Amino acid sequence: MIPLEDRDYSQFIEQVKGKTGIDLAQYKEAQMKRRLTTLRMKNGYQTFASFFKAMMENESLFYEFLDRMTINVSEFWRNPNRWETLRQAILPELARRSPRLKCWSAACSTGEEPYSLAMILSEMNLLRQSQIHATDIDDGALGRAKQAVYMERSLKDVPPAYIKRYFKQEQLLYRIVDELKAAIQFRKQNLLLDSFDNHYDLIICRNVMIYFTEEAKSKLYHKFAKSLKSGGVLFVGSTEQIFSPGQYELEPLETFFYRKK
Ligand SMILES: C[S@@+](CC[C@H](N)C(=O)[O-])C[C@H]1O[C@@H](n2cnc3c(N)ncnc32)[C@H](O)[C@@H]1O
Repeated sequence: MIPLEDRDYSQFIEQVKGKTGIDLAQYKEAQMKRRLTTLRMKNGYQTFASFFKAMMENESLFYEFLDRMTINVSEFWRNPNRWETLRQAILPELARRSPRLKCWSAACSTGEEPYSLAMILSEMNLLRQSQIHATDIDDGALGRAKQAVYMERSLKDVPPAYIKRYFKQEQLLYRIVDELKAAIQFRKQNLLLDSFDNHYDLIICRNVMIYFTEEAKSKLYHKFAKSLKSGGVLFVGSTEQIFSPGQYELEPLETFFYRKK
């Protein structure tokens, strides 16, 4: 017999999938269930069934749910030495092969990642002829990414010369210059459900795979590899080393960078 509590949660998963297309079953269960149970209890609902009903009637509760399940934490230059490797080794090599780079920041959250990339491409004089796509499942995060206004603390790892060139300070806030804003196409996309564009030179997908089940991860690596050009590079997060990359036609290039064969 399945305990009532488990059935309550699995029905919630089905309902959320039916209404939103978001499949919570592809996220690591213990973590997700703990986060959502805390949210449900905080809002005073005894069961996931009553919580789902309330969420459908109350938009702000639904957005609170989305917020809790997505975890939008991001930073410019997250793990700075990896971005240095991208700047010094990976991008020059990719640009030698094709000067018009097609890049994608997948699960871009509030935009720090695609803007970090845009700064580097601009500095290398590659931005004008390149394309940067940036996608996330969360409309709220995408809205903030498009506004491109940040607190000083999220700039802590940005090299000072880049702060000077690519941000306008407005009292306590820092606004990204229009040149970079215009270079990025933001779009809503569910990595676990939607189809991908292809012929990418570079895909950056960092700090979201950690939330997915092994099965979901494996499917995604296949999808990413298919979306890369031969010789294109996948840049992953600093806890997200790929186990046996060869099975996806990827080969290790530098730590946390993989090249499509
Ligand atoms: C921790 S942030 C990572 C942001 C950025 N990539 C970085 O490393 O700083 C994780 C992001 O993944 C997004 N996300 C979660 N599930 C997703 C899915 N199925 N499809 C697309 N984005 C998803 C969340 O909305 C969130 O913005």
